[in-house]
Amino acid sequence: STGQAFDTNSMTLTRYTLGEQKRIPSATGDLTQLLVSIQTAVKAISSAVRKAGIAKLYGMAGDVNVQGEEVKKLDVLANDLFINMLSSSYTTCLMVSEENKTVIEVEKDRQGKYVVCFDPLDGSSNIDCLVSIGSIFSIYRKTTNTEPNVSDALQPGTKIVAAGYALYGSATMMVISTGNGVNGFMLDPSIGEFVLTDPNMRIKEKGKIYSLNEGYANLWDPAISEYVQGKKAKKAGARYIGSMVADVHRTIKYGGIFMYPATSDAPKGKLRLLYECNPMAFLVQQAGGMATTGKMPILDIAPTDIHQRTPIILGSSSDVQEVIDLYKKHN
Ligand code: AHM
Ligand code: MG
Repeated sequence: STGQAFDTNSMTLTRYTLGEQKRIPSATGDLTQLLVSIQTAVKAISSAVRKAGIAKLYGMAGDVNVQGEEVKKLDVLANDLFINMLSSSYTTCLMVSEENKTVIEVEKDRQGKYVVCFDPLDGSSNIDCLVSIGSIFSIYRKTTNTEPNVSDALQPGTKIVAAGYALYGSATMMVISTGNGVNGFMLDPSIGEFVLTDPNMRIKEKGKIYSLNEGYANLWDPAISEYVQGKKAKKAGARYIGSMVADVHRTIKYGGIFMYPATSDAPKGKLRLLYECNPMAFLVQQAGGMATTGKMPILDIAPTDIHQRTPIILGSSSDVQEVIDLYKKHN
């Protein structure tokens, strides 16, 4: 067949979320507008991550380089983009960023009904060596009539309206759920749009890959030690990138388990509940997998601090269930 040279009817992310919202009679279109602003931030971050325009910043070979301090660090740039795009979207009243100590309130005349928690550029140790990094976000509705304040951000993950991540990998992709399954959209740089390439993503019931930082093995609790030993006895695949978005994306695509468990020196683990664990737990559950602390579902945690941490174990349901059972056994 000749095939179409150009798709004149492609399913973009914006088109998809518009369609999703039209199914809800009371929907105003605000969530679509919010997701458009996040897409803009993500496209700009992707371009910066891929070093578009680097020649202008550093000069051509042989020229004297512009010094490093004039180049905005990528994580600062990503944070500025998220904050600026969301604040100007008229959909958001409050933001929580990994990069900001306190909540960020949107100025009054631009406030909307949503609260957005995000990690603008996760995987800091992988930025300078050009390994995959990502952005993570979750969206809540403000449920009170008060001035926006920190308590609006302290909602459990069960209240998430939508969540997603952007992976700046060998390609740029956004994976999103509005509570009706999970869909993946690849950035087509030739048109600057996210196009649906992975509809209705589902995690295998059981996988072969396990993923955690084994350098901390001496600090694990007995449940995790026994689980990992069991994996090795059965000859499993080991993969650990050290960027949560990349490790979770692989887990959704290939199956298996990703863990950042408690260690004896960090009993709450490392990863943050509001903008790392909750959104990923929501996505994984929407794809048919599970996400737990080992003792309770991640999404059931009632947060008390916007930057609190939690141990996390997520992925294929039967793999995660095995860990839960080991926690019961060792309790
Ligand atoms: P960051 O927010 O400083 O980037 O740290 C979060 C990252 C996650 O992406 C990843 O899962 C984890 O830290 C890796 O940590 P470790 O180096 O301890 O294995
Ligand atoms: Mg982070």
